[in-house]
Amino acid sequence: MSRYGYIEKYLNTDAVERRLAALQKKIEGAILEDKSQPESLSDFAWRSWRMPEEERAEGYQKAKAKAIEEKVEAVRKFKTTATCQDCGLTFPYFTRIDTEICVLEKPPIYCLPCHRKRCDQEARQERIDNFRERNPLSRHYLSQNGSPPRPAQFDAVQNWREWWDDGDQHSQGLVLVGDSFTGKTTAVYRLVRKLVEENDYESFLAVNSTQLNAIPERVMDRTISTFMQELQEVELLLIDDLDKVRITPRVASELWGLFEHRLREQNLSVFITMNTRTKRDFIRLFNGKDADSRQIGLSIYNRLQQACQFIDFDVLTQPANPPTAGEEGAGEEPG
Ligand SMILES: Nc1ncnc2c1ncn2[C@@H]1O[C@H](COP(=O)(O)OP(=O)(O)OP(=O)(O)O)[C@@H](O)[C@H]1O
Ligand SMILES: [Mg+2]
Ligand SMILES: [Zn+2]
Repeated sequence: MSRYGYIEKYLNTDAVERRLAALQKKIEGAILEDKSQPESLSDFAWRSWRMPEEERAEGYQKAKAKAIEEKVEAVRKFKTTATCQDCGLTFPYFTRIDTEICVLEKPPIYCLPCHRKRCDQEARQERIDNFRERNPLSRHYLSQNGSPPRPAQFDAVQNWREWWDDGDQHSQGLVLVGDSFTGKTTAVYRLVRKLVEENDYESFLAVNSTQLNAIPERVMDRTISTFMQELQEVELLLIDDLDKVRITPRVASELWGLFEHRLREQNLSVFITMNTRTKRDFIRLFNGKDADSRQIGLSIYNRLQQACQFIDFDVLTQPANPPTAGEEGAGEEPG
């Protein structure tokens, strides 16, 4: 158990009371033959086997009452109070929650709500540090001043959610298409930082064409499986500039495996940016000498279309919600 969970066990007096009530019920419901009963009860069961029937039943009830008293009252006796160093309020806690072991070594200095708030803040900071450390380019993409080149699309990206309508609808990510310098990559970094900060997403990894173009080399030096495993397992993945990747048959099949794993088997999201806007051009990226690669390209495109939301960064729109009738091309499927 983590340090936080350990302290919370003593601070969460409601939970302790619930556990005590459950223990009381358990003892009350115990029967003589029960092997898992508390010590004093099993001790009685052992001593009582020669007693006359009636005496035995009565003695057992007494032993139960004693067991409850011993176990439950012993814990309650260790309920005390302290003053929270954050909010200044007095709060209750147990110095002991078990009669045998588990003694809180030092008195807690924060009340339960403040303790939880601190835990959340620390966890959040850890996620942010991890996000920055694993993605050195985040510094660049998060330091842009000024306004987004495509505000409507930027907003659409920021509004992405994995689950909609109380879990009825599921989006497995975004495919951002359009010209260079329209703000696609920046929009994803902003979105992901928000998700990591506010929504408990633990890990994010961005890879670009340079890293994906190294796949053939990784096959040679046998680091390919570790690399692909990382891409498969990270909670949020950005594949930046997918169309800049030189798609050899091996790269095509690795990509297919990656999308199968994330989108179909593990329900993990993926964000993609590329300049390629149409389905035909996408499949063309997979135009090796073999028909297999083209088929893979088509399958990947179909899978993405099924699972993800496509946003076209070339279409000029006003931020509008809901879209007005006169708007042309907004939200149109490429290809
Ligand atoms: N949200 C934003 N706020 C402020 N400036 C932005 C924003 N998004 C993009 N910009 C500006 O536009 C530039 C290009 O953005 P970005 O690299 O995200 O575009 P892109 O669509 O990913 O381009 P490419 O297709 O070449 O990768 C940034 O360097 C920055 O100057
Ligand atoms: Mg980019
Ligand atoms: Zn407090």
